[in-house]
Amino acid sequence: MGQLIAVGKTNEIPDGEAKVITVNRKDIAVFFTDGSYFAIDDACPHAGASLAGGFVEDGEVTCPVHAWRFKLADGAWADNPRVKTGCYKTSVVGDVVFVEVP
Ligand code: FES
Repeated sequence: MGQLIAVGKTNEIPDGEAKVITVNRKDIAVFFTDGSYFAIDDACPHAGASLAGGFVEDGEVTCPVHAWRFKLADGAWADNPRVKTGCYKTSVVGDVVFVEVP
């Protein structure tokens, strides 16, 4: 099991939006959509844009710069699932959201 990092209170992330936390000098975007929390690396694997600012729909985030789409559940690039960005487990205890990092 990895390290549990508190992201913040559940009401800090509106539906369809994300909050960025920095863990071990890496930015992780924590999204809330469809009643669940998802965490993937914030830096887009294409050219490094912040995925937290992307459009969220149908379990995917669309990068705001060149529109690559990533599945929030596993970090896979929608157009080529062999390419994945970092993805992390989330949990909620009480009203606090946690991310598990290695
Ligand atoms: S930086 Fe994300 S698609 Fe280009």
